Amino acid sequence: MSTTAPHVRPRVVTTVAEVREIVAAERAVGHTISLTPTLGALHDGHLSHLAHAGKIADTRFVSIFVNPLQFGPSEDLDKYPRTLDDDLDKLAAIGVPYVFAPSVDEMYPGGEPDVHVTAGRVGSLYEGHSRPGHFDGVLTVVAKLLLIVTPDFVTFGNKDAQQQFLVRQMVRDLNIAVSVEAIETVREHDGLALSSRNRFLDEKERRAARSLSLALEAAASSADRGIDSVIAAAQGTLMGEALVELDYLKIVRPETFLPVDDDYRGPALVLVAARVGTTRLIDNERITLAG
Ligand code: PAF
Repeated sequence: MSTTAPHVRPRVVTTVAEVREIVAAERAVGHTISLTPTLGALHDGHLSHLAHAGKIADTRFVSIFVNPLQFGPSEDLDKYPRTLDDDLDKLAAIGVPYVFAPSVDEMYPGGEPDVHVTAGRVGSLYEGHSRPGHFDGVLTVVAKLLLIVTPDFVTFGNKDAQQQFLVRQMVRDLNIAVSVEAIETVREHDGLALSSRNRFLDEKERRAARSLSLALEAAASSADRGIDSVIAAAQGTLMGEALVELDYLKIVRPETFLPVDDDYRGPALVLVAARVGTTRLIDNERITLAG
């Protein structure tokens, strides 16, 4: 009879001082370090970040922190799923050694910080337009996490493409010595991008939510007929779903994240955000505009 060794749960670290001690000890034995910042409620998308991190770093940190700074007053901060026990089981199964799970007081001892990172022009577009202040909150906490953990590598998902773009900009503009690792979006069998918020969808909404990735597929198939066709194809798919309320559908240049001109040809990103019932979802797809 074969027995399987029980998985060892990650060490849960709640203070900045303790993280610094661990990092010093790992560095002392020559280990490189990765950080995967999360809000928790981990799913296979997060686990694919950690699979990548496991290939490039000796030691992996995951941060689990529902950052109040990035939620607007009418957003789902209180409702955001907090599933630490379940998250630790998932991380134990893939051998992650350290979780940094600070309290709000540990991260913001004086309350909302006076000094913070501002996300600049791109930070106020698309997601930033719909969620004012969101990216200032994201970049502020990411900067703090990078200063606390001082990782060699930090993973950011392609699903949150604007967030990843802004983190790269911050790392460049503030000379932060970290490599930003892009992680492919993980999708359900029908194309829906994995998100911690998918759990809020009821059965009908879950079916309707497929239309986001279907719209992006329709956009990609129309890319050789130019921008108007891309927009029409994607909008047509979304408008066929009564439960989906489109927030924005934009085509941007990957290197500037600014909207493409009408005569632009070349690589582009189609961004979509929509409310399905009460749940707000985002997704995106790379296309090559021709035509
Ligand atoms: O993408 C997220 O989960 C969050 O925005 C992040 C990067 C963990 C910052 O709170």
